[in-house]
Amino acid sequence: MTETEQGWVKVFAPASIANLGPGFDALGVALEGLGDTIQARRTETPGVRIVEMTGEKESIPADPAQNCAGRAAESVLKQLKGKAAREAGLEMKLHKGLPQGSGLGSSAASAVGGAVAAHLLFGSALGSNTLIEAALEGEVLASGGRHADNLAASLLGGFTIVRSHEPIDVIRLELPSAMRFVVVLPGMEIRTSYARSVLPEMIPLKDAAGNWANTAALVAAVARGNVADFGRAVVDRIVEPVRAKLIPGFADVKKAALETGAHGCSISGAGPALFAVATAETAERVALAMQAAFQRHGLPSRHFVCPPDNRGARRLD
Ligand code: HSE
Repeated sequence: MTETEQGWVKVFAPASIANLGPGFDALGVALEGLGDTIQARRTETPGVRIVEMTGEKESIPADPAQNCAGRAAESVLKQLKGKAAREAGLEMKLHKGLPQGSGLGSSAASAVGGAVAAHLLFGSALGSNTLIEAALEGEVLASGGRHADNLAASLLGGFTIVRSHEPIDVIRLELPSAMRFVVVLPGMEIRTSYARSVLPEMIPLKDAAGNWANTAALVAAVARGNVADFGRAVVDRIVEPVRAKLIPGFADVKKAALETGAHGCSISGAGPALFAVATAETAERVALAMQAAFQRHGLPSRHFVCPPDNRGARRLD
Protein backbone atom coordinates (compact mmCIF):
# COMPACT_ATOMS: atom_id res chain seq x y z
CA MET A 1 0.00 0.00 0.00
CA THR A 2 1.41 3.46 -0.81
CA GLU A 3 1.57 6.23 1.77
CA THR A 4 -1.16 8.10 -0.06
CA GLU A 5 -3.47 5.14 0.48
CA GLN A 6 -2.69 5.24 4.19
CA GLY A 7 -3.93 8.81 4.29
CA TRP A 8 -0.73 10.79 3.89
CA VAL A 9 -0.62 13.96 1.82
CA LYS A 10 2.72 15.13 0.46
CA VAL A 11 3.32 18.83 -0.19
CA PHE A 12 6.29 20.62 -1.74
CA ALA A 13 6.86 24.30 -0.88
CA PRO A 14 9.57 26.11 -2.87
CA ALA A 15 12.43 28.23 -1.59
CA SER A 16 12.31 31.91 -2.43
CA ILE A 17 14.29 35.12 -2.77
CA ALA A 18 12.81 38.05 -0.86
CA ASN A 19 13.43 41.78 -1.29
CA LEU A 20 15.06 41.39 -4.75
CA GLY A 21 17.16 44.46 -3.98
CA PRO A 22 14.86 47.45 -3.54
CA GLY A 23 11.64 45.74 -2.38
CA PHE A 24 12.35 45.11 1.31
CA ASP A 25 9.55 43.06 2.95
CA ALA A 26 7.40 43.45 -0.18
CA LEU A 27 8.80 41.50 -3.14
CA GLY A 28 9.59 37.82 -3.60
CA VAL A 29 10.17 35.13 -6.23
CA ALA A 30 9.83 31.35 -5.90
CA LEU A 31 12.73 29.12 -7.00
CA GLU A 32 12.32 25.92 -8.99
CA GLY A 33 14.02 22.84 -7.60
CA LEU A 34 14.78 24.00 -4.05
CA GLY A 35 12.45 23.71 -1.09
CA ASP A 36 10.89 21.64 1.67
CA THR A 37 8.71 18.55 1.43
CA ILE A 38 6.10 17.86 4.08
CA GLN A 39 4.00 14.75 4.56
CA ALA A 40 1.06 14.77 6.93
CA ARG A 41 -1.82 12.52 7.93
CA ARG A 42 -4.73 12.74 10.32
CA THR A 43 -4.49 11.16 13.78
CA GLU A 44 -7.01 10.34 16.50
CA THR A 45 -5.04 12.39 19.02
CA PRO A 46 -5.87 16.10 18.75
CA GLY A 47 -3.04 18.54 17.98
CA VAL A 48 0.08 18.46 15.81
CA ARG A 49 3.03 16.08 16.19
CA ILE A 50 6.28 16.05 14.21
CA VAL A 51 7.30 12.41 13.88
CA GLU A 52 10.30 12.70 11.56
CA MET A 53 12.74 15.35 10.34
CA THR A 54 15.27 14.70 7.58
CA GLY A 55 17.56 16.73 5.30
CA GLU A 56 19.10 20.04 6.41
CA LYS A 57 17.39 19.92 9.80
CA GLU A 58 20.26 21.14 12.00
CA SER A 59 19.08 23.28 14.95
CA ILE A 60 15.43 22.95 13.92
CA PRO A 61 13.18 22.16 16.91
CA ALA A 62 10.88 19.13 16.72
CA ASP A 63 8.44 20.67 19.24
CA PRO A 64 5.54 21.70 16.98
CA ALA A 65 4.95 24.87 18.97
CA GLN A 66 8.53 25.95 18.19
CA ASN A 67 8.69 24.57 14.65
CA CYS A 68 7.64 26.75 11.67
CA ALA A 69 5.75 23.92 9.94
CA GLY A 70 4.16 22.67 13.15
CA ARG A 71 3.03 26.10 14.27
CA ALA A 72 1.57 26.95 10.84
CA ALA A 73 -0.37 23.66 10.80
CA GLU A 74 -1.67 24.38 14.32
CA SER A 75 -2.87 27.75 13.15
CA VAL A 76 -4.85 26.15 10.29
CA LEU A 77 -6.41 23.57 12.65
CA LYS A 78 -7.48 26.33 15.07
CA GLN A 79 -9.46 27.94 12.28
CA LEU A 80 -11.59 24.84 11.65
CA LYS A 81 -15.13 25.18 12.93
CA GLY A 82 -16.45 23.84 16.30
CA LYS A 83 -15.93 20.14 17.05
CA ALA A 84 -13.60 19.68 14.09
CA ALA A 85 -11.22 22.27 15.56
CA ARG A 86 -11.24 20.58 19.02
CA GLU A 87 -10.68 17.08 17.68
CA ALA A 88 -8.36 17.69 14.73
CA GLY A 89 -5.03 15.92 15.02
CA LEU A 90 -2.22 15.40 12.53
CA GLU A 91 1.31 14.04 12.43
CA MET A 92 3.89 15.27 9.99
CA LYS A 93 7.23 14.37 8.46
CA LEU A 94 9.41 17.29 7.46
CA HIS A 95 12.16 17.05 4.85
CA LYS A 96 14.27 20.21 4.87
CA GLY A 97 15.72 20.81 1.42
CA LEU A 98 17.62 23.91 2.45
CA PRO A 99 19.32 25.12 5.62
CA GLN A 100 17.87 27.61 8.08
CA GLY A 101 19.50 31.06 8.13
CA SER A 102 20.49 30.92 4.45
CA GLY A 103 18.40 33.80 3.11
CA LEU A 104 16.46 31.45 0.84
CA GLY A 105 13.16 31.41 2.67
CA SER A 106 13.80 28.12 4.47
CA SER A 107 11.51 28.85 7.40
CA ALA A 108 8.87 30.24 5.05
CA ALA A 109 8.94 27.04 2.94
CA SER A 110 8.39 24.96 6.10
CA ALA A 111 5.59 27.22 7.29
CA VAL A 112 3.83 27.21 3.92
CA GLY A 113 4.25 23.43 3.62
CA GLY A 114 2.78 22.92 7.10
CA ALA A 115 -0.16 25.23 6.46
CA VAL A 116 -0.96 23.73 3.05
CA ALA A 117 -0.69 20.14 4.29
CA ALA A 118 -3.13 20.84 7.15
CA HIS A 119 -5.43 22.73 4.76
CA LEU A 120 -5.55 19.78 2.35
CA LEU A 121 -6.00 17.13 5.04
CA PHE A 122 -8.93 18.85 6.71
CA GLY A 123 -10.45 20.47 3.63
CA SER A 124 -10.33 23.88 5.31
CA ALA A 125 -12.09 26.72 3.56
CA LEU A 126 -9.12 29.07 3.91
CA GLY A 127 -8.18 31.22 0.91
CA SER A 128 -4.62 32.11 -0.03
CA ASN A 129 -4.42 35.31 2.04
CA THR A 130 -5.68 33.44 5.14
CA LEU A 131 -3.22 30.60 4.51
CA ILE A 132 -0.45 33.20 4.38
CA GLU A 133 -1.71 34.55 7.75
CA ALA A 134 -1.53 31.00 9.18
CA ALA A 135 1.95 30.44 7.76
CA LEU A 136 3.01 33.77 9.24
CA GLU A 137 2.43 32.27 12.72
CA GLY A 138 5.19 29.80 11.88
CA GLU A 139 7.51 32.23 10.09
CA VAL A 140 7.48 34.66 13.03
CA LEU A 141 9.20 31.98 15.15
CA ALA A 142 12.27 32.07 12.93
CA SER A 143 12.51 35.67 11.88
CA GLY A 144 11.07 37.54 14.85
CA GLY A 145 9.14 39.85 12.51
CA ARG A 146 5.79 39.77 10.73
CA HIS A 147 6.75 39.86 7.06
CA ALA A 148 5.18 37.69 4.40
CA ASP A 149 7.42 38.28 1.38
CA ASN A 150 8.96 34.76 1.36
CA LEU A 151 5.65 33.16 2.36
CA ALA A 152 3.69 34.74 -0.49
CA ALA A 153 6.27 33.65 -3.08
CA SER A 154 6.46 30.11 -1.71
CA LEU A 155 2.69 29.68 -1.55
CA LEU A 156 1.73 31.28 -4.86
CA GLY A 157 4.89 30.92 -6.98
CA GLY A 158 6.08 33.45 -9.54
CA PHE A 159 6.73 37.05 -8.54
CA THR A 160 4.76 38.33 -5.56
CA ILE A 161 4.14 41.77 -4.11
CA VAL A 162 2.92 41.96 -0.52
CA ARG A 163 1.19 45.31 -0.74
CA SER A 164 -0.23 45.11 2.78
CA HIS A 165 0.47 43.02 5.87
CA GLU A 166 -2.58 44.18 7.91
CA PRO A 167 -4.59 42.67 6.34
CA ILE A 168 -2.51 40.45 4.06
CA ASP A 169 -2.97 41.55 0.47
CA VAL A 170 -0.80 39.98 -2.24
CA ILE A 171 -0.45 40.57 -5.98
CA ARG A 172 1.11 37.84 -8.10
CA LEU A 173 2.68 37.90 -11.58
CA GLU A 174 4.25 35.18 -13.75
CA LEU A 175 8.01 35.28 -14.29
CA PRO A 176 9.64 34.66 -17.70
CA SER A 177 10.75 31.02 -17.91
CA ALA A 178 14.01 32.07 -19.63
CA MET A 179 15.12 33.72 -16.43
CA ARG A 180 17.75 32.08 -14.22
CA PHE A 181 18.45 32.99 -10.62
CA VAL A 182 22.00 32.18 -9.61
CA VAL A 183 22.10 31.65 -5.86
CA VAL A 184 25.43 31.38 -4.05
CA LEU A 185 25.32 30.33 -0.43
CA PRO A 186 28.51 30.86 1.60
CA GLY A 187 29.29 28.55 4.51
CA MET A 188 28.00 30.81 7.26
CA GLU A 189 24.65 31.61 8.87
CA ILE A 190 22.98 34.96 9.51
CA ARG A 191 19.99 35.02 11.83
CA THR A 192 17.16 36.97 10.23
CA SER A 193 16.35 38.60 13.56
CA TYR A 194 19.93 39.91 13.76
CA ALA A 195 19.96 41.04 10.12
CA ARG A 196 16.78 43.01 10.86
CA SER A 197 18.12 44.50 14.09
CA VAL A 198 20.96 46.29 12.27
CA LEU A 199 18.65 48.17 9.88
CA PRO A 200 18.03 51.90 10.32
CA GLU A 201 14.70 53.21 11.61
CA MET A 202 14.99 56.41 9.57
CA ILE A 203 16.17 56.70 5.98
CA PRO A 204 17.03 59.69 3.77
CA LEU A 205 14.26 60.64 1.36
CA LYS A 206 16.59 60.40 -1.65
CA ASP A 207 17.39 56.77 -0.80
CA ALA A 208 13.70 55.97 -0.38
CA ALA A 209 12.99 57.61 -3.74
CA GLY A 210 15.74 55.51 -5.38
CA ASN A 211 14.27 52.30 -3.92
CA TRP A 212 10.67 52.92 -4.90
CA ALA A 213 11.73 53.92 -8.42
CA ASN A 214 13.60 50.61 -8.79
CA THR A 215 10.77 48.64 -7.17
CA ALA A 216 8.40 50.04 -9.79
CA ALA A 217 10.97 49.26 -12.52
CA LEU A 218 11.16 45.63 -11.31
CA VAL A 219 7.41 45.24 -11.58
CA ALA A 220 7.45 46.77 -15.07
CA ALA A 221 10.22 44.37 -16.12
CA VAL A 222 8.17 41.38 -14.90
CA ALA A 223 5.07 42.66 -16.70
CA ARG A 224 7.08 42.97 -19.92
CA GLY A 225 8.97 39.70 -19.39
CA ASN A 226 12.31 41.49 -19.74
CA VAL A 227 15.11 39.70 -17.87
CA ALA A 228 17.79 42.37 -18.47
CA ASP A 229 15.55 45.18 -17.22
CA PHE A 230 14.66 43.07 -14.16
CA GLY A 231 18.36 42.72 -13.32
CA ARG A 232 19.03 46.43 -13.91
CA ALA A 233 16.37 47.31 -11.34
CA VAL A 234 18.02 45.22 -8.60
CA VAL A 235 19.42 48.35 -6.93
CA ASP A 236 18.99 48.82 -3.19
CA ARG A 237 20.25 52.00 -1.53
CA ILE A 238 18.83 51.23 1.91
CA VAL A 239 19.20 47.66 3.16
CA GLU A 240 22.04 46.22 1.06
CA PRO A 241 24.70 48.75 2.15
CA VAL A 242 24.04 47.91 5.82
CA ARG A 243 23.77 44.12 5.50
CA ALA A 244 26.72 43.88 3.08
CA LYS A 245 28.97 44.41 6.09
CA LEU A 246 27.72 41.10 7.55
CA ILE A 247 28.88 39.13 4.48
CA PRO A 248 32.67 38.84 3.97
CA GLY A 249 33.66 39.70 0.40
CA PHE A 250 30.20 40.98 -0.57
CA ALA A 251 31.48 43.76 -2.88
CA ASP A 252 33.89 41.41 -4.68
CA VAL A 253 31.27 38.69 -5.14
CA LYS A 254 28.78 41.16 -6.56
CA LYS A 255 31.46 42.61 -8.86
CA ALA A 256 32.34 39.10 -10.07
CA ALA A 257 28.69 38.44 -10.90
CA LEU A 258 28.26 41.67 -12.87
CA GLU A 259 31.59 41.26 -14.70
CA THR A 260 30.68 37.77 -15.89
CA GLY A 261 27.35 38.81 -17.40
CA ALA A 262 24.78 38.95 -14.60
CA HIS A 263 22.16 41.64 -15.14
CA GLY A 264 21.95 42.37 -11.42
CA CYS A 265 23.03 41.03 -8.02
CA SER A 266 22.12 41.58 -4.38
CA ILE A 267 21.53 39.82 -1.06
CA SER A 268 18.87 37.11 -1.04
CA GLY A 269 16.45 37.95 1.78
CA ALA A 270 18.37 38.55 4.98
CA GLY A 271 21.44 36.72 3.57
CA PRO A 272 24.09 35.39 3.61
CA ALA A 273 23.13 33.96 0.18
CA LEU A 274 23.60 36.30 -2.76
CA PHE A 275 21.50 36.05 -5.91
CA ALA A 276 22.31 37.16 -9.43
CA VAL A 277 19.92 37.60 -12.35
CA ALA A 278 21.14 35.63 -15.37
CA THR A 279 20.09 33.53 -18.35
CA ALA A 280 20.69 29.85 -19.10
CA GLU A 281 23.76 30.88 -21.18
CA THR A 282 25.46 32.95 -18.48
CA ALA A 283 24.31 31.29 -15.24
CA GLU A 284 27.10 28.71 -14.64
CA ARG A 285 29.85 31.21 -15.50
CA VAL A 286 28.36 33.76 -13.12
CA ALA A 287 27.97 31.16 -10.35
CA LEU A 288 31.59 29.97 -10.59
CA ALA A 289 32.93 33.55 -10.60
CA MET A 290 30.88 34.37 -7.49
CA GLN A 291 32.10 31.24 -5.70
CA ALA A 292 35.74 32.01 -6.61
CA ALA A 293 35.30 35.52 -5.16
CA PHE A 294 33.91 34.11 -1.88
CA GLN A 295 36.81 31.66 -1.78
CA ARG A 296 39.30 34.55 -2.03
CA HIS A 297 37.74 35.81 1.20
CA GLY A 298 38.13 32.40 2.84
CA LEU A 299 34.51 31.35 2.48
CA PRO A 300 33.58 28.04 0.85
CA SER A 301 30.19 28.17 -0.83
CA ARG A 302 27.70 26.18 -2.87
CA HIS A 303 25.66 27.37 -5.80
CA PHE A 304 22.26 26.70 -7.31
CA VAL A 305 20.96 27.77 -10.71
CA CYS A 306 17.19 28.02 -10.51
CA PRO A 307 14.53 28.89 -13.05
CA PRO A 308 11.55 30.66 -11.53
CA ASP A 309 8.89 28.42 -9.97
CA ASN A 310 5.61 29.72 -11.35
CA ARG A 311 3.56 27.01 -9.58
CA GLY A 312 4.20 27.61 -5.88
CA ALA A 313 3.33 25.15 -3.09
CA ARG A 314 1.72 21.99 -4.46
CA ARG A 315 0.60 18.50 -3.63
CA LEU A 316 3.05 15.86 -4.87
CA ASP A 317 1.08 12.65 -4.44
N1 HSE B 1 12.31 40.73 4.02
C1 HSE B 1 12.97 39.92 4.99
C2 HSE B 1 14.25 40.59 5.42
C3 HSE B 1 13.27 38.57 4.39
O1 HSE B 1 14.98 41.02 4.54
O2 HSE B 1 14.51 40.69 6.62
C4 HSE B 1 13.92 37.61 5.33
O3 HSE B 1 13.01 36.95 6.12
